[in-house]
Amino acid sequence: MNRSVIIGTGSCLPERVLTNVDLEKMVDTSDEWITSRTGIKERRIAGTGEETSKLAASAALKALTMAGVEAVDVDIIIVGTITCEKNMPSCACLVQKEIGAKGAFALDVNAACSGFLYGLDIADKYIRSNPELKVLVIGAENLSARINWEDRNTCVLFGDGAGACLLTGADDGRGMLASRLFSDGDLWRLLHMDSAPSLNPALKYAKSDGAYIQMVGRDVFRYAVRAMGDAITKVLDQEGISFEDIGLIVPHQANIRILRSLADHLGLPLGKFYINVDKYGNTSAATVPIAIDEANRQGRLKEGELLLICTFGGGFTWGAAIIKW
Ligand code: ACO
Repeated sequence: MNRSVIIGTGSCLPERVLTNVDLEKMVDTSDEWITSRTGIKERRIAGTGEETSKLAASAALKALTMAGVEAVDVDIIIVGTITCEKNMPSCACLVQKEIGAKGAFALDVNAACSGFLYGLDIADKYIRSNPELKVLVIGAENLSARINWEDRNTCVLFGDGAGACLLTGADDGRGMLASRLFSDGDLWRLLHMDSAPSLNPALKYAKSDGAYIQMVGRDVFRYAVRAMGDAITKVLDQEGISFEDIGLIVPHQANIRILRSLADHLGLPLGKFYINVDKYGNTSAATVPIAIDEANRQGRLKEGELLLICTFGGGFTWGAAIIKW
């Protein structure tokens, strides 16, 4: 049976590091509060020349280099993002131009922190029907551009970056075994970001909350643990796979306490989870592909082992997938 295998990974983080100590000078917070509540020590902040599409393109080129595939041979580019520097064209089209992937078609996925996983699922459906395809799936964000830097409730949590995976088909038993995706639009108010103000006078909204990220932290926390736990259980049950069979879990990196609660909820040791939230904060759709790239380059993903991915984000959107590496 043909399945989608990841044949290259890459990531790109902006140069500038913003530490918790730096944030102490910007809002009424402390390194101690941020570390104990979130596990985050520092995050990267994009500057000139590090727009979302540029970070995405750089991560994509690294994935292509690892795979030994030319950009012109890419068939589809999918970018999970909620913070592209343009609404039109898509981030994926800007990446196409940047890397010279002339033969591809390109599209964005807006599923917030689950954008990369949703993209992976779409890529898998295409590859199952045509295993020759080469598909770039990217998660890329410039969240620092969409944060209220006077709001200590949110500005300490997020960062910028991009990660990419190149996939193609194989029939040797490796690849994406299963994925389960979920959404619940009823809960959108708990985590959201308005569009930029409308230029059409007839469409000006009476009240805008501002075009930056807003959330009800405690509720997001509660739902995130429950939803990711549920998605993981469903995808494992569906495939008849037990936790003992999983080599590594790469979860969405929002907060170390969410991951601790998730591990407790599932009865798993935290050591099974790949964690880098301390270095980058929450980079939304980019957290999972950045973590996969790091784990891959550190040799933590071994051929034949099972990788479990789980995500949760605005929408709400969430899901889980199992990949035989
Ligand atoms: N520094 C110091 N104090 C702060 C800060 C800060 N940066 N932010 C909030 N506080 C204060 C609050 O004002 C409040 O003060 P008060 O009691 O005087 O009103 C106090 O700390 C406690 O606030 P809570 O919101 O109750 O703190 P909590 O322990 O719930 O932690 C947090 C807040 C970290 C946001 C937590 O709710 C959380 O992790 N939620 C998950 C949200 C998340 O990760 N979102 C990311 C996007 S969603 C996703 O990716 C899954």
